[in-house]
Amino acid sequence: MDLGLDGKSVIVTGGGSNIGRAIVLAFAGEGAVVTVGDIDMDQADRVAEEANKKGPGSVEVVPTDVTQMDQVERLVGAAIERHNAVDVLVNNVGWDQLMYFVQSTPDFWQRIIQVNYVGVLNCTKVVLDHMIERNRGAIVSISSDASRQGEPREAVYGGMKAAINSFMKTIAKENGRFGVRCNTVCPGVTIPETDEEIGSSSMWVNKDQMFTEEQMVKVAKNLPLKKIGRPQDVANAVLFLASDAAAGHVTGQVLSVSGGYTMVG
Ligand SMILES: NC(=O)c1ccc[n+]([C@@H]2O[C@H](COP(=O)([O-])OP(=O)(O)OC[C@H]3O[C@@H](n4cnc5c(N)ncnc54)[C@H](O)[C@@H]3O)[C@@H](O)[C@H]2O)c1
Repeated sequence: MDLGLDGKSVIVTGGGSNIGRAIVLAFAGEGAVVTVGDIDMDQADRVAEEANKKGPGSVEVVPTDVTQMDQVERLVGAAIERHNAVDVLVNNVGWDQLMYFVQSTPDFWQRIIQVNYVGVLNCTKVVLDHMIERNRGAIVSISSDASRQGEPREAVYGGMKAAINSFMKTIAKENGRFGVRCNTVCPGVTIPETDEEIGSSSMWVNKDQMFTEEQMVKVAKNLPLKKIGRPQDVANAVLFLASDAAAGHVTGQVLSVSGGYTMVG
């Protein structure tokens, strides 16, 4: 099916690493023009180079910390200046460190809140103003299956991701009348295949400290589909939700891409 994403202007935050990287490559493969906002310029530039070689679309990187409103305004301004529009926003940035809540500190909570939630608010506000003016657009936010059931060692992160699910439903209700669709994707454990797929600020830099090989086998065994997710799995769902041709009547939905880890009725 033609997703109709050819020539569309897409912003992907955190597009340098792992899932974000796969999303950027997937949109570029569909012929979209992508603007990446990331704090890791080296890694994001590598992804842009890879995408520009492979796909028909083009990718440009704008250094952006999504927690800073002035930097988000510059990111969105750059995409509009280059392509006259933003058709799709993918709020992909997220960050966590696994630890029990009682071990965590208020400084840690603040960082989790800023990166995972305030970043989404900043990007959504600036892009929504523009989409409402145009009477069209699609926003996809990357949440987590940690938002759908309690996940030990991810208390504050899971709470912020649950906030994203609720926020996206509300803005879907508020802005459907302006032709703006808002949906959420919840990955489960989704690991990079090689070290080249992640940047130095990726939460997967110390992958072995997060999950041992043994734990990975156990995680896969407990999933209905018996396998760990790959970044491309998430990217495929994002393309679907971003596409008016495929998902033109879909808004306010929370879609898990997690091998069946959670099933919400
Ligand atoms: N990988 C998983 O297992 C998994 C599971 C559930 C949900 N998620 C969610 O998927 C999304 C992507 O995860 P990932 O595994 O690809 O993460 P990652 O850590 O590999 O990549 C995150 C990217 O965001 C960038 N970034 C971090 N802070 C930033 C900021 N303040 N401003 C701009 N850029 C920033 C990093 O430089 C990096 O390029 C996140 O929202 C994450 O919470 C991931």
